[in-house]
Amino acid sequence: MKSQTTFVLLSLCLLPIIFVLADSRSFSIDYKNNCFQKDGKPFQYISGSIHYSRIPREYWKDRLLKMYMTGLNAIQVYVPWNFHGTVQGVFNFAGDRDLEYFLNLANQTGLLVILRPGPYICAEWEMGGLPAWLLQKPNIILRSADTDYLKPASEWLAVLLTKMRPWLYQNGGNIISVQVENEYGSYFACDYNYMRHLHTLFRLFLGEDVILFTTDGNTDKEMICGTLEGLYATIDFGTDTNITAAFIRQRRFEPKGPLVNSEFYTGWLDHWGDKHASVDTVKVSKMLGEMLSMGASVNMYMFEGGTNFGYWNGADHDSRFRSVVTSYDYNAPLSEAGDPTDKLLAIRDVIKNFRDIPVGPMPPATPKFAYGFVTLQKVCKTLFISGLSLCYVNCVQYYGFMLYRTTLPRNVPEPTPLISPLNGIHDRAYVSVNGVYQGLMERDTALVMNVTGQQGDQLDILVENMGRVNFGSYINDKKGLLGNLILGNDVLTDWSIYPLDIDTAVANGWLQAAHSGSAMEAGDGPMIYSGTLKSTGLAWDTFVKLNGWTKGQVWVNEVNLGRYWPQRGPQQTLYVPGPFLSATQPNNITVLELERAPSHRRILFMDRPHNAIWSLSFLIPKKDIDHYLEPNNPSSHMKTCCC
Ligand SMILES: *[C@@H]1O[C@H](CO)[C@@H](O)[C@H](O)[C@H]1NC(C)=O
Ligand SMILES: *[C@@H]1O[C@H](CO)[C@@H](O)[C@H](O)[C@H]1NC(C)=O
Ligand SMILES: *[C@@H]1O[C@H](CO)[C@@H](O)[C@H](O)[C@H]1NC(C)=O
Ligand SMILES: *[C@@H]1O[C@H](CO)[C@@H](O)[C@H](O)[C@H]1NC(C)=O
Repeated sequence: MKSQTTFVLLSLCLLPIIFVLADSRSFSIDYKNNCFQKDGKPFQYISGSIHYSRIPREYWKDRLLKMYMTGLNAIQVYVPWNFHGTVQGVFNFAGDRDLEYFLNLANQTGLLVILRPGPYICAEWEMGGLPAWLLQKPNIILRSADTDYLKPASEWLAVLLTKMRPWLYQNGGNIISVQVENEYGSYFACDYNYMRHLHTLFRLFLGEDVILFTTDGNTDKEMICGTLEGLYATIDFGTDTNITAAFIRQRRFEPKGPLVNSEFYTGWLDHWGDKHASVDTVKVSKMLGEMLSMGASVNMYMFEGGTNFGYWNGADHDSRFRSVVTSYDYNAPLSEAGDPTDKLLAIRDVIKNFRDIPVGPMPPATPKFAYGFVTLQKVCKTLFISGLSLCYVNCVQYYGFMLYRTTLPRNVPEPTPLISPLNGIHDRAYVSVNGVYQGLMERDTALVMNVTGQQGDQLDILVENMGRVNFGSYINDKKGLLGNLILGNDVLTDWSIYPLDIDTAVANGWLQAAHSGSAMEAGDGPMIYSGTLKSTGLAWDTFVKLNGWTKGQVWVNEVNLGRYWPQRGPQQTLYVPGPFLSATQPNNITVLELERAPSHRRILFMDRPHNAIWSLSFLIPKKDIDHYLEPNNPSSHMKTCCC
């Protein structure tokens, strides 16, 4: 059945060869036998991707143990520069950013590490891991030898790689190889000087012994621009690809050495407004088996996807801007909440044919709890008061929301078009006049809306950053209001710009204020709601569903869970990890609803994600399904509340 070509590709890795004893700890490429070599013996890795930045620290160990128990011998990890260097000149490695603690847990669990420190990582992560402050240099060419980019990138790598050096396998740690850049061949710049500079830096800080490699997509163009002499060239592809053809392509760039698929896609990501993506378990396990039997080393991307908490999701820009959803479940073998799935069991059955998998039970799913409904109150402060600072040119707020304020230049008694002629709203704008909501505009899809009002009325435009583009030529994705707005025939000018640091306001309890006072219209548009989830003595995982709510952001205590947008979907529930909850104190819930809240103002904490209800519906009595899926109750225009 095997063609001659396939035979050529078969790695000698699989043949029983007597090896000479090498140094006690070594990890290298054996070009003679087309193999990796660990401590002088042939070695094939079976690895899975996991991103510590998408999992609460408390759960790192649990997820790693589940990967180990599946039979993996390695993990692959991205390091997002912007997660550690959110502000220029600051390098944060504490708490959820404690990379060395993560490496230590992996080492204790018995997992080797394939490190991908970027500086660009893609990963469907905000701006592909690059810090947004780089864009303060207006003409910067990211991912190139442009010094505006290369200088801060080199400073970051000096800090990061110096920390990583003791963790290299040769030095007593568990890092067996380190990727330079990431799929660089799919970027337009194709700048070999940049890649050579990175190569020099990586060698300078990591030494001569560690394997440095590149990963690129399965085309000649990508392999040509992404590979460099001295960096081992690997390839990535998913279940729709012809394995033999893909590895023949890798062989053209690496005639000898191990076959490596650095990203074998177990699933795929979701964008808001797109259909939920999934990849068939049978295809994944069958192809994994085929690659392993060729002696290839394989990393499964993702093995545990996790969550884009806060504002960390990325976006794509192909025909239009498409933002990545909050969940990074990825249809991976471990679910977003870290629970083993059928896909994991199928993969484990494949791995059993290639290596002994650890004895002992697979750790169970973490316990989940349905805390039930919480009714929220409108917080009677306007959004725009607490925690504001005024700025005009370079507002130092990179994520979340900015308020642009000016006045109407003339009377507009009839509905008059407000236009963004250059598509300069990045990414969504919520417009009100004298505090009364008028509607919204959206990048690429809604560039005109109508406004009415009097000359001198206050025009407020709340602009939402939906996550910066993480892939392709559009990664210089500036946010805010980037071009003039025109009302009728008038260009609007004299803007005041306010960064809205809602996260600090939430953390300081400013948005949990008492609700009392005189009546006020509770119209549509951006509003804060808050409430408490009573303590139950439990701090178990849960999923919050905002049925009837439109679009916004949710916080539990100080933690920003991410964006919700049930109207656009496909994601319908947000994952709330147990460690974010208090078992003993009431938990503070804050919701920023941008468009329209339902009149019931309830949110529901369930013990499973919404999607699981459908897949498990044969197990759940009908009445309970109804409980989960309360009718989508549209907002009545009640005038309510307070202040
Ligand atoms: C990694 O784990 C091994 C085995 O438990 C241990 O001997 C070694 O000291 C650990 N390395 C580090 C850097 O913690
Ligand atoms: C896969 O690619 C190989 C090499 O190009 C080719 O010989 C083979 O026919 C392909 N298989 C299929 C199913 O297309
Ligand atoms: C604006 O108002 C005009 C006049 O009422 C109407 O014809 C038009 O459809 C409206 N445009 C939008 C974008 O709502
Ligand atoms: C909720 O907010 C109150 C008032 O700000 C605070 O005292 C309490 O500690 C918060 N609860 C939790 C679990 O953080």
